[in-house]
Amino acid sequence: KSVAELGDLSGKRVLIRCDFNVPLDADKNITDDGRIRAALPTLTALREAGARVVIMAHLGRPKGEVNPKYSLAPVAARLGELLGTDVKLATDVVGESAQATVASLADGDVALLENVRYEPAEESKDEAARKELAQKYAAFGDLFVSDGFGVVHRKQASVYDVASLLPNAAGSLVAKEVGVLKQLTENPERPYVVVLGGAKVADKLQVIDNLLKVADTLVIGGGMLFTFLKAQGKDIGSSLLDEDNLQTCRDYLAQAEAAGKQILLPVDVRVADGMDFDAREAKGEVEVVSVDAIPDGKMGLDMGPETEKLFAEAVKGARTVFWNGPMGVFEIPAFANGTAAVAKALTEVDGLSVVGGGDSAAAVRVLGHSDDEFGHISTGGGASLEFLEGKELPGIAVLEGDN
Ligand code: 3PG
Repeated sequence: KSVAELGDLSGKRVLIRCDFNVPLDADKNITDDGRIRAALPTLTALREAGARVVIMAHLGRPKGEVNPKYSLAPVAARLGELLGTDVKLATDVVGESAQATVASLADGDVALLENVRYEPAEESKDEAARKELAQKYAAFGDLFVSDGFGVVHRKQASVYDVASLLPNAAGSLVAKEVGVLKQLTENPERPYVVVLGGAKVADKLQVIDNLLKVADTLVIGGGMLFTFLKAQGKDIGSSLLDEDNLQTCRDYLAQAEAAGKQILLPVDVRVADGMDFDAREAKGEVEVVSVDAIPDGKMGLDMGPETEKLFAEAVKGARTVFWNGPMGVFEIPAFANGTAAVAKALTEVDGLSVVGGGDSAAAVRVLGHSDDEFGHISTGGGASLEFLEGKELPGIAVLEGDN
């Protein structure tokens, strides 16, 4: 169901889930506001229809605790600028401030609840606890709109449970994302190359199994690459390792070989003693080393120049490419080369190129590319991956008209 099918919205309180999980620098400046911009069409349509808009969103992973580091205050300010109106930020999620803020709304006004992940029940596995919280959210709206595509793969109170408590619809961002991603699942032009990187190693490793079934080549870089190298018996120094998934990586390598699919891994990497993320600096000297010779105590933080060429060739030779997750710590200039090489290669694809995920989308913009150089930039990382795997996304399946 679309928002237009919800009927007359004038004076109605519309509760909407958005994904405003945007990257912030050490001074809490938003370094890429793409996810906020992506929400504007639906928010503007609701305001123009006279709705009183109540937004639910999360930032980072505060794990059920109130933590000012994860406050949505920078988001409220930026959203207000982009909408050209004051966005009233509640200082809590469902408490007195939220109630008073929602009660104060006039037609066309916009409120933003504080980070829903301050509430322990938001992400709880305990369904009854989630439902109880969802009832409190539902009390803030007459209708519910799901437009946080980046979070629809999460079975969480503000995404999933609240939807069944109110008449609901999918926002235009969710509709657009689903439309483009369907092109990748329904008969993609081949060769179909999927490039995976990023830091959410455990999340990503779980999806490889299914991606191996749909893609011809899987290119692996970023944080998860070192678990693969270790699985091949290589020394990885002090690089990121997901010990629990070592055997899984070994199985994937064997599975790919048996299925005649290619898992393309780096041949060289950039290493240093470590990094100071806040200062955007490498610690110690940055060196390029072969993946067979990562020195003890050194940390791999980007791909090397030979790998850049290798990956760029693989990408440019494809007719369909999906890329999720930066290839290195691109926020630090010394480790942005791998991500820059892949981003550039995607702009040269003769076919459909899709960039998925908050970090990858931020990376292409931070590196100076414009959105129209790519076929599509998805706001969803994990969500787009799970969609491509053919998994049911709880936040979409729960919507009316989708069952
Ligand atoms: C994302 O950044 O991919 C979404 O906002 C979901 O965040 P999560 O992985 O912490 O659930």
